This record gives sequence, C-alpha cells and structure tokens, in this order.
Amino acid sequence: MKLFDVYPINDINITHAKGSKVWDDQQRQYLDLYGGHAVISIGHTHPHWVHRIEEQLKKIAFYSNSIKIPIQEELAQKLGEISGKKDYQLFLCNSGAEANENALKLASFHTGRKKIIAFSKSFHGRTSLAVAATDNPSILAPVNQTDNVIFLPFNDTSALEETFKKNGNEIAAVIVEGIQGVGGINVAENSFLLSIRKNCDQYGAVYIADSVQCGYGRSGKFFSHDYAGVNADIYTMAKGMGNGFPIGGIIIAPHLKPKHGMLGTTFGGNHLACAAALAVLEVIEKENLIQHAEQVGEYLSASLKSISSLTGVRGRGLMIGFDVPDHLKNLKKNLLFKHKIFTGEAKPNVIRLLPSLALTMEDASYFIQQLKLAIEQYQD
Ligand SMILES: Cc1ncc(COP(=O)(O)O)c(C=O)c1O
Repeated sequence: MKLFDVYPINDINITHAKGSKVWDDQQRQYLDLYGGHAVISIGHTHPHWVHRIEEQLKKIAFYSNSIKIPIQEELAQKLGEISGKKDYQLFLCNSGAEANENALKLASFHTGRKKIIAFSKSFHGRTSLAVAATDNPSILAPVNQTDNVIFLPFNDTSALEETFKKNGNEIAAVIVEGIQGVGGINVAENSFLLSIRKNCDQYGAVYIADSVQCGYGRSGKFFSHDYAGVNADIYTMAKGMGNGFPIGGIIIAPHLKPKHGMLGTTFGGNHLACAAALAVLEVIEKENLIQHAEQVGEYLSASLKSISSLTGVRGRGLMIGFDVPDHLKNLKKNLLFKHKIFTGEAKPNVIRLLPSLALTMEDASYFIQQLKLAIEQYQD
C-alpha cells in the first residue's frame, strides 16, 4: 500500500527533536521556526511534557466519556486560570476543524438559526461546515457547498454592520480568526472585533473566536482577541494545546447552556490527551512563556522591519508574517536547505514564523543573522 498523496513534501526525515531544534536522519540540525505548523508551543519533547505523558500512560491512556475523568476537570480549572476565562465551560475534542465544527453547531443549536458569517482569506479547517466557512473554493467538495455561509471582507466594519442590519435575525454566528494564519498573517483590528461583539449582542448571534492558530499564548496574550478587550462567546483551540499530542477544544461562555447529546466524541478528552494538555499549561505558567513570546516576538518583528528588502512585516508575539519580493522567491527553500531553518509560508509570497513560544533570544538572533545572509547570497 502507498500513501494517499495529498501533501507536497520536503525530502527531509526528522528523527528527533528538542526545544526549537530538530535533527534529520543524517544527524543534521535544523532550527524550527515553523513548529510543525504552529503546533509546538512549549518546545519539542519538553521533559515535563514527556514525563506527564509517560506517567499517565502507565496508569490509563483511554476510557470513554461515559465515566468520570477527573483529569478533564483539572485541565478545565487550569485553562480557566491561565486564559482568564474562569467561568467558561470546556468541551474537549481532537483537532482544530472539529473544534470549529462543534462551535458552529453549538451556535446553531443555541440560536435556532442557520447562517454563519465568515471572512475573506479565512481558514477554519477541512470538515464539512469548517471548510464551508473557509475562503478557499479549491478545497471545498461539492457536498460541502452551502448557502448558509456569508463571506464578508476581513476588517470591514461597514460590510459587517450592513449585513447584520439586513439579515441580523438569521445569523447564528460570526467566526473569525484574531490573526489569520493560513490567509497570510492578517491581524484583526480591535475596532473590527469590537464591532463583531456589538452586533452579536444586538442581534443575538454567537461570536466564535477561532484561536486554533493564534491562541494559546502565541500572540503574546492567551487569546489574540484579548488585545481588543472583548470576550468571545466561544473560543476554539487545538494546535499548541497539546504541543504535538492531538487535542482540541472549545471554551463556552456561561450563557450558552449544555444539553445531553448536543455535542459528543469518542476520543475527545481522553486521559492521555488531558495529561499532555495539562503539561503544556503547567510549562506555559512556570516558564512564563506568554510574556516570553511577546518579548522575543517584538525583537523578531523589529529586526525584520530593519531588513530593507522585506516588506509588510506584521503579526503579534510569535505569529509573524512578511512579504518576500519576487527576486527572493526561493528564500524559504534556501533557508531550509542551505541554512537549515524551517519557516512556514502562505500563498503567494508570505513567509510565516510560528516557532515554539520558548524560542530563545539567541535562536531568534541566529535566525535574523542567517536570514540576512540568505538574502545577500541568493538573489534568485
Ligand atoms: C485558524 C485555524 N483554524 C482551524 C484549523 C484546522 O485545524 P486542524 O488542522 O487541527 O483540523 C487550522 C489549521 O491550520 C487553523 O489555522
């Protein structure tokens, strides 16, 4: 049997990893500023995370949600403390798409409505409604097409208000990334998020903050929406939540009431996933990683802005993007193969930095130095 070929892949076999470094099967070392697509939050193979998972594995890895699983409550407690959303309710699942799917479904149950507002350049995942709310027709199968999603321009407050004025009573939810990731690192303006909050309140719609990529401390605050001083009704999370152990979740404001059977999952919230997620939060707290991400992010952004051939440096904390001019179109490839540095990309010409929140200043400054070299050396 061979693999179903859905990904363009780099010819590199990573065999081990530590912190922000990974090594291939030839023992070559790479600096990882991509984190396997924003997943590595506290650093690869962090000893506390490994220990927590190992200890849990020896006791019990899985039992279904038909029994009490106290480690879920421990996780909810810790997440409430660190995110500042103490009175929210936690529902656990396995991935970002699933988190968004559950959030949208819950909003529809809550309001009894069908329409969703999503935005240009959004990415919310590849399952049915999540992909329908994603602004990329090329990944939408005919069966996922629906008239229930209304796309509006991102950061366009007038378009948002207009739509609410016209169709407000049909809108179940607005789903928005605080910083668009796949769309190319586009920061939602505070005034835009405040307007989403205001309109959702006025028309009884649910504000869903897709924090799968921009959440969990990456932006320098726990949720990037916190910069606007708003509370969303539902936050969706995955990626950094498990530092590579698959886990996703949604946190739900207290006015949204649960009912048995409303949401459900077999694997979501299993013992092992909760142990991994708790380890992540414990390390974030102990190592002060959110503040660290903000500081290292500031240094990286300022350094990038000082490189004249790069434009449009943007983002917050350790979620940073910049535009690469045509004459440097191979920059990402050169960084990887010649300088041994992983970075991310967004089409057509954006480099995305999504490192671990524990990236050291030393590694950040090494990256800037290598980036400058790459720009000087390979003008192709
Ligand atoms: C903002 C956002 N939402 C949802 C998802 C989907 O997450 P997953 O791939 O875990 O289903 C992604 C993945 O890149 C994402 O960036």
